[in-house]
Amino acid sequence: MDLVEKWQQDPAQGGSIDVGPDLSVITLGVIARVALGRTLKDLGEELMQNNFETVAIATAQTPAHVLVDAVAAHLPAPLLRAMSHLPGEAMATIRKCRAFTDRLGWDVVAERIEAMKRGLDVSGDFFGQLVGGQDSVTKSISLEEIVGQTTILLVAGQDTTASAVTFSLIHLAKDQKLQESLRQEIHSQSADVKYENMALLNAVIKETLRMYPAEAMAERIALQDTVLPLGTSITTISGQIIDAVPLKKGQLLLMNIGAYQRQSPRWGPDPHIFRPSRWLDGSIPGMKDGVGVYSNMWVSSAFIGFPVTRNLRSRLTFLSGNHTCLGWRLAVLEMQVILTTLLGKFSFSIPEGDDEQVIPCFRSTVIPVLQDAKKAAPLRVSPL
Ligand code: HEM
Repeated sequence: MDLVEKWQQDPAQGGSIDVGPDLSVITLGVIARVALGRTLKDLGEELMQNNFETVAIATAQTPAHVLVDAVAAHLPAPLLRAMSHLPGEAMATIRKCRAFTDRLGWDVVAERIEAMKRGLDVSGDFFGQLVGGQDSVTKSISLEEIVGQTTILLVAGQDTTASAVTFSLIHLAKDQKLQESLRQEIHSQSADVKYENMALLNAVIKETLRMYPAEAMAERIALQDTVLPLGTSITTISGQIIDAVPLKKGQLLLMNIGAYQRQSPRWGPDPHIFRPSRWLDGSIPGMKDGVGVYSNMWVSSAFIGFPVTRNLRSRLTFLSGNHTCLGWRLAVLEMQVILTTLLGKFSFSIPEGDDEQVIPCFRSTVIPVLQDAKKAAPLRVSPL
């Protein structure tokens, strides 16, 4: 990992490093390799810079941004597309992003088709698998649709995971005892690390994903009239007890994942505390009844797809149903590898006087910001 070299050579002379941008470079490199079979060098400086600027626009929260979001939600799709031709720096960056990623996507697709013609195996990356796929799902995807995924993959796959690792590092920096225990677990591994056997590492990751779900708010539209049963009934101020919410076909449902992931009935009496041990000591109420793939951080597809069921015990970090996060396994593996590598080589601490400086903020995704609302996560990074 080049980052290790960079931080070893320049650990900010005892000062602090904003770890976010460096972690974003790592996660962009991973997604480029896994999805497109490209290195960061292949992507080139200009595309990388544009990718970071696009993410910055998506996570900005200027008054203009809020206004555009609110208006855009009510515009028909053709008008929305036309908006991308508006003047202005942000729109120019987004147009450039589209042009870069379209070109990149078509280049990769053309290469994979050429390789297939020569009888070569193209299954080494996600695009190769889609282009060369023989099953009914991959066969039904057009080349245009495959290329169309380039932008979303490079954006969705980058900042989400980088922010999650950042939040893990912040909590580990705040709790030196926890950090040392995790380091011991890391150092006790043989060269052939078995991430799934690292109980504390996985507990730290699960606790991070619980408290900082990248997509803290998701939207769904009811496909038919239905009734959404509540896991726990609510008593209104007029004393009415509600245990189900009727939904009309076409009605918008906002899922507040961030709030759900911090509910006492689900997580115990201390849902706002970063306590990885809850994943190890059996103190999560209803944990055994969950249905998810990764520590139940998704929900039964029956819930998302309607009609709904009563099984609401699961967690929502990666959602579920037809639009489950495509990269959830990759994101978890990345967190395992990055945290193991970094904690094995560096110690992290909070810069003096900065104890409560970084807070989570939901701006398209949950990101770390300073009290002045600027996106940043300064940490002291010392080589071991
Ligand atoms: C901690 C990291 C991540 C979290 C918490 C996360 C969470 C989510 C969530 C909640 C959704 C559903 C959005 C919705 O339908 O409203 C989603 C969708 C998606 N994610 Fe992730 N994600 C993460 C990392 C990644 C990575 C690494 C990739 C790259 C492969 C990725 C690719 C996608 C894609 C392509 C979709 C759209 C799926 C679709 O609409 O069919 N995500 N993600």
